[in-house]
Amino acid sequence: MDVLIVGSGGREHALAAAIAGSPLCGALHAAPGNPGIAAVARCHPVAAADVDGLVALAHDLAVELVVVGPEVALVAGLADALRHAGIATFGPGAAGARLEGSKAFAKEVMLSAGVPTARGLTAITAEEALAAIATLGGRVVVKADGLAAGKGVIVCDDTTQAESAVATLAGQPLVIEERLDGVEVSLLALCHGEVAVALPPARDAKPLFDDDQGPNTGGMGACSPVAGLDAATVDALVASIHVPVLRELARRGVSFSGCLYAGLMLTADGPRVLEFNTRFGDPETQAVVPRIAEDLLTVLHATAVGTLEQRPLAVHPGGSVAVVLAAAGYPDTPRAGDEITGVADAADLADIYHAGTALRNGRLVTAGGRVLAVSAVGPSVDDAGRTVYEALARITFTGMQWRSDIAARAGTLPGQ
Ligand code: AMP
Ligand code: GLY
Repeated sequence: MDVLIVGSGGREHALAAAIAGSPLCGALHAAPGNPGIAAVARCHPVAAADVDGLVALAHDLAVELVVVGPEVALVAGLADALRHAGIATFGPGAAGARLEGSKAFAKEVMLSAGVPTARGLTAITAEEALAAIATLGGRVVVKADGLAAGKGVIVCDDTTQAESAVATLAGQPLVIEERLDGVEVSLLALCHGEVAVALPPARDAKPLFDDDQGPNTGGMGACSPVAGLDAATVDALVASIHVPVLRELARRGVSFSGCLYAGLMLTADGPRVLEFNTRFGDPETQAVVPRIAEDLLTVLHATAVGTLEQRPLAVHPGGSVAVVLAAAGYPDTPRAGDEITGVADAADLADIYHAGTALRNGRLVTAGGRVLAVSAVGPSVDDAGRTVYEALARITFTGMQWRSDIAARAGTLPGQ
């Protein structure tokens, strides 16, 4: 089967590496891809948001499956356009991607579906936002309604901070939400219609520094599994979150197909959904995909064409860790052009997934905020973490930033 992967991050590199290893994989293409993806796929210079360009490319290449990584393309209707052109596509159409593209819509769907989420109010004007803050009591999270590339959420301690958050995010619809405490987990499932097959649960690490200090980022690392989330618990969560949401979408005439990612807070009062993404997570994918013990291409294709069955996915026991190496200045002003060394040596120990890298005169340099992810599986999360940190010590670039506590975030798993 000839396949096109859309995107250029570590997530897409992890997907490309797994798909390239499938016995069913014919020619593998990526758009736009990156220098790491280029080792396993032919890269084409078409941007991930260029819907017409991607449809034309998929058509010209006569691929049998397109796997869409980033949300921008999905929200813009790429999957609809590809399906309209008769090309099997992994990823929801614009109507399903609205779960990620509008936090107000996601809230409304969750309320209709009876899915537990933080109490929230939608505000169109600043006055409404301030009233919502007064109603919810100051300790709130202020969120831009639309896609904001990880920059649209401000977690506040009190009313003063919340009011300044409203000023920062002014000029767009906002969702004001009660701030919840607990353990945050990412629960991804492959979905088609009302079928939802859980992927291994993972924990992302959003803040830049250890112990969740510093500014929020797109994600500094992930580990899988997570303490307390055994297979039965995961299945129960998917049955009470993903499936009712899929059913509610279906009731509204929307057939969802792709990856539905629930960002959950496990609170003292039970799980609450913080957000939905309608795609694989980054960097969760770099940790989760290596744990899947069946042919990824087969399950992605089954999801795309609607033959996915409700069943447990085979998963390697043990655990995995993926640690992001970020550029100097990330997240505010990542510096490009720093030479990266040691990747080949590190690759002797672990999987190295490229994200913000570029080749300049034959040398690998930084070219984005999150530069690489170093990922390994092992008999336990701790073992995987040791491998990852040994491997990443071989990689250098000026100003390299990473978190040293990614493995510890799995919590204490039985037998570790
Ligand atoms: P989101 O894009 O909605 O997941 O928000 C980004 C990050 O903000 C999440 O990963 C959480 O760490 C934090 N966050 C979002 N909503 C809440 C909430 N209601 N309570 C506490 N933290 C939150
Ligand atoms: N890991 C967070 C995200 O993919 O949005």
